[in-house]
Amino acid sequence: MLFSSLPLLFAATALASPLHQHSSLYKRACATGPDTAADFVNYAGYSDPALNAATPPGYTNTFTNLQASSNADGYGGFITLPSYNVTTCAAQCTSRANCHAFNIFYERTPVAAPSNCTSSATIKCVFWNGAVNTANAKNTGSTQNNFQIVIAGSNGYVASAISPSAGYAMPIYLNNNAVQAPLDCNGKDTYLGFQTFNTSFDASRCAKACSAQAAYAIAHPPSDGSKPKTCQFFNTYVESKNGVAQDQKCVLYSQTWGKSVASNTGYAYGQDVYTMGMSYAYSNATDAGVCVKA
Ligand SMILES: *[C@@H]1O[C@H](CO)[C@@H](O)[C@H](O)[C@H]1NC(C)=O
Ligand SMILES: *[C@@H]1O[C@H](CO)[C@@H](O)[C@H](O)[C@H]1NC(C)=O
Ligand SMILES: *[C@@H]1O[C@H](CO)[C@@H](O)[C@H](O)[C@H]1NC(C)=O
Ligand SMILES: *[C@@H]1O[C@H](CO)[C@@H](O)[C@H](O)[C@H]1NC(C)=O
Repeated sequence: MLFSSLPLLFAATALASPLHQHSSLYKRACATGPDTAADFVNYAGYSDPALNAATPPGYTNTFTNLQASSNADGYGGFITLPSYNVTTCAAQCTSRANCHAFNIFYERTPVAAPSNCTSSATIKCVFWNGAVNTANAKNTGSTQNNFQIVIAGSNGYVASAISPSAGYAMPIYLNNNAVQAPLDCNGKDTYLGFQTFNTSFDASRCAKACSAQAAYAIAHPPSDGSKPKTCQFFNTYVESKNGVAQDQKCVLYSQTWGKSVASNTGYAYGQDVYTMGMSYAYSNATDAGVCVKA
């Protein structure tokens, strides 16, 4: 046996996933740039810093110079910056508990006081628990009091600890919930066991474990000639015992499961209460292990 089985008593609660909008506006000095929404998004003064930004150590760049900001999972607030500085954003994210991704961009902002210009640029750095990616960078702005708020030079960064290894899709954030997988479409269990790591959190360890399980299963097919059950999905999280973080778990499955079954909020074992945090779900990018009815 490669993997031991998991002792779990489950409590089912709905996964809360409030996707906050970030609409507060902060003003800074009148921009030197052009003054229409169309010019704003095309202004080289905003795209150049985005295109030239170096990826800070410990982070992976997920998109560059989009004209939209992200609405990811687990809003963690934002700061405004006097200049487009990815290093400053990264340092802020690293210093915040549960910040695992950030999005930096220029936002068109109205100028209220009498001025020679009508718009300025606010440089925002928005923090998230879940990954920012092109799929959730869809906020292109809005019109408020006839003023067009638009976004330029939007870059996304995800902490390397949750970056997927090659071959896995960007993770889904499950907050304090773990996957509690039902049986598959043929009534079969998709659970393949788990591994525990007692060092700093790193999702790529689970990716390796998942791929290793699949290779092992293929090399040791069932003697009845049935298809080997290979790992195509994993859920990783930090497990805490009575509120104290213990270790990182990698729970492996042969099928991809979504947020709707992330209903395991922990369990009691003897006198002790176990809970999860920083839970992420990763799916094999080319084969999600979709169940085919037998
Ligand atoms: C960002 O800020 C840091 C620290 O204040 C500074 O050393 C660095 O030069 C800045 N980078 C850019 C691109 O402005
Ligand atoms: C507009 O620009 C002119 C010339 O630079 C300056 O004298 C004037 O004070 C500015 N007006 C406002 C409201 O900033
Ligand atoms: C994803 O699944 C395919 C098909 O099962 C497999 O060949 C591939 O190695 C898997 N990718 C990873 C990164 O394990
Ligand atoms: C992991 O380390 C912590 C702190 O050193 C310890 O309390 C815990 O029992 C360890 N867990 C495992 C599974 O080894």
